[in-house]
Amino acid sequence: MNKKPSTNTSTCHSERSRRISVTNQKQNLVILVSGSGSNLQRIIDCIGSGEIPNAQISLVVADRNCFALERASNHFINHILIPRGENFSDELQKIIPKNTDLIVLAGFLSILEPDFCETFKGKIINIHPALLPKFGGKGMWGNRVHKAVIEAGETESGATVHFVTSGIDEGEIILQGKVSLDKNETPETLSEKIHKIEHDIFPKVIAKVINKQ
Ligand code: GRF
Repeated sequence: MNKKPSTNTSTCHSERSRRISVTNQKQNLVILVSGSGSNLQRIIDCIGSGEIPNAQISLVVADRNCFALERASNHFINHILIPRGENFSDELQKIIPKNTDLIVLAGFLSILEPDFCETFKGKIINIHPALLPKFGGKGMWGNRVHKAVIEAGETESGATVHFVTSGIDEGEIILQGKVSLDKNETPETLSEKIHKIEHDIFPKVIAKVINKQ
């Protein structure tokens, strides 16, 4: 005899599908870039491979014309150029989708206004090419950082992923990866080593932060 499912069973079933659809809901990332975008590429690839699960890039924003925009375009990802200027943070705030879960600074060179940082508190992360709190702050970007590290006689450097606050490179550190310096290290060789570390730790942090692990 066919038994009609009890009310209980159907409640369980709909409850289960509701849970599944909640779990499958993708987290929306907005990525800010200024340069070559190798970290952006790594994030795109890791979303594709599932190393960053439950995520999608809803928008890539550049503050200047750069190769990162081309990478976004190659992957049919929404992208926009907002030339940096006085109202950059306001302009940015206007176009960031309301449902954004995480803003990722992946080689982004403009400074975000304190209001912007406050609005998205706990939802912005940055990657810096040195072991913060050393070698951070205003003017410390690109090969300038590596030059300073070498001139200081450091034996190691690395990359730091941290939350963004209004203090430049001062937010809470989430993860660091280290590299050793060779005797004949140059800013270029160090940059190459550190990029490798960045490509390893950045996707891991993003996966962890959006899945709240
Ligand atoms: C990285 O070294 C990152 O630490 C710094 O800018 C660089 C961006 O590189 N903030 P890429 O554009 O992702 O290749």
